[in-house]
Order: sequence, then C-alpha cells, then structure tokens
Amino acid sequence: MQFIEVKDLTVEFTRIAEDGTEVKGKRAIDGISFSVEKGSFVSVIGMNGSGKSTLAKCLNGLLLPSSGDVIVDGMNTKDESKLWDIRSRVGMVFQNPDNQIVSSIVEDDVAFGPENLGVPPAEIRKRVDSALKQVGMYEHRLKGAHMLSGGQKQRIAIAGAVAMRPECIVFDEPTAMLDPRGRASVMDIIRELNSEGITTILITHFMSEAAQADRIIVMNAGHVLSDSTPRELFADMDMINRAGLELPPVVELREKLGLPDSIMTVDDMIAELRKLCR
Ligand SMILES: Nc1ncnc2c1ncn2[C@@H]1O[C@H](COP(=O)(O)OP(=O)(O)O)[C@@H](O)[C@H]1O
Ligand SMILES: [Mg+2]
Repeated sequence: MQFIEVKDLTVEFTRIAEDGTEVKGKRAIDGISFSVEKGSFVSVIGMNGSGKSTLAKCLNGLLLPSSGDVIVDGMNTKDESKLWDIRSRVGMVFQNPDNQIVSSIVEDDVAFGPENLGVPPAEIRKRVDSALKQVGMYEHRLKGAHMLSGGQKQRIAIAGAVAMRPECIVFDEPTAMLDPRGRASVMDIIRELNSEGITTILITHFMSEAAQADRIIVMNAGHVLSDSTPRELFADMDMINRAGLELPPVVELREKLGLPDSIMTVDDMIAELRKLCR
C-alpha cells in the first residue's frame, strides 16, 4: 500500500520585486512524481539546492504545491480540513537541533507536539516517557535543553516527533550538524523506528546513510534523476557522476577488493569479512 503519493508536483517560489509586484522565481521542484510504500525506508539525496527540503515540507503540508498533488494516506495536502490529520501522521525532524527545541526542559519539549494535538495529560505522560526511552534520553528528562550536546538535542527532537505517534517521519539532514558519534546514534534510532513500522524518509548528504535505505531517490535541479535500490544506484557510476555524488566508502572498498555487490553498509562488510576469515 502506498502511504505517500507525489503526483506531478511543482513548487515555484514567488518573490516581491522592488515595485511591489510578485515575480515568479525558478521552480524549486519541477514536476516530480513518486510514491512511498507504507513501512518502507526511502532516502532522498542530491546536491544543495536540488529541492530536497522543499519536497520535505510538501510531504506534511508545510508547503503546498504550485501545481500537482501530494496525497498522504489518501488525503490531499490541499484539503485544509485534513491538514491536522496529515501533520499528526507525518512528523518532521530538521537539520538544526537548536531551532527545534521549543521548551527549556527536555520532557516539556517532547510533550509539546502531543499537547498541540490535544492528547489527554495521562496519555501524554506515557508517550513522553516511552519516546524518551526509545531515543535513550529518559534519564535526561528533567535537564535543561541547553545542557545537551547536538546529538542529544537531535534525539530529543526525534522523541518529540515519536511522541505524536506518527505513521511516517521525514528527516531532513538530521545528522548534518552532528559529530560522528551523534550521527551514529541518530542513525541507529532512525533504523529502529523504521523496523518498528514507521515509514521513513531520510534526506541526507551522507551516502553511507542513504545506503541503509530500501530505496534512494536522487534529486537534481528540482527533478528526480533516479529512483532505485542502493544496489542499483551504486552500480551506475554514470548516474553517480551526473548527480555530483560519490560512492559510500564501504562500496568503494568493496569494489576495490572485488567483494560481492550485495555489500552496502559497514555491517554488511563486517559480516562478509567474518565469513572470509573463518
Ligand atoms: N522560501 C524560499 N523562497 C525562495 N526560494 C527558495 C525558498 N526555499 C528554497 N528556495 C530555493 O529553492 C531551491 C531548492 O531549495 P531547497 O529545497 O532548500 O534545496 P535542498 O534542500 O536540496 O538544498 C533553491 O534554489 C532555493 O534557493
Ligand atoms: Mg535542504
């Protein structure tokens, strides 16, 4: 079953010229179509300015199409009466953890989303505790958010999204501002959420992160350049070069060692090396 359907989506930002008239800008998204199957893990990659963040914001109605449609669980984001429903089903986690923390105390911050949805207080308590445990931040629940590292703040932002019990979470470069350890912990959480059934859309510029998805959509100048499995994409050097990307280090190593092309992640590589060393 398809959870999200994007049909001929175009987004054109307008700007106000000096004489006060509206001027059409270039298309940030230019007629793209794809769908996301319920429960799947889709990664979106592409150079800066290719339209990834604009697309992310269209997926829960933060931005509306200039033309075309975005259908979430059967609901069109253009249907204003469905906007709350859509936003409660599709959570968002953005790049900068500092811009996403709204309360000074960790647990209040996680409670913010469900409070806005009108969830009863006892249920909020349950959800906040369980979301904090899920991201490994329960023991920090009474801390001031300013005391946390970037990675911990990002885990709180994810807990905030999880506490809304969404069916899907869109992550827009969630690890871009984190150190390697923070990045790994956030990726572990993303994979775990997906394995529990949350439809996962991960925008990233780390190829090693995209490699963990079921499917990779490559964007370029507002278009979808390619939509394939990681295995198919990494076998297509022409596409990798055209999109200005590079192979994940593990895939490069695998190629040089002549190992099977099923190896996509560090974990795959470890399993293969263990087999070889046996
Ligand atoms: N609010 C906005 N107003 C005008 N132009 C914008 C706005 N947001 C993004 N753009 C433009 O749309 C294009 C795509 O941007 P964006 O979606 O942020 O790309 P990405 O996330 O892939 O870096 C860029 O050319 C950017 O300058
Ligand atoms: Mg972006």
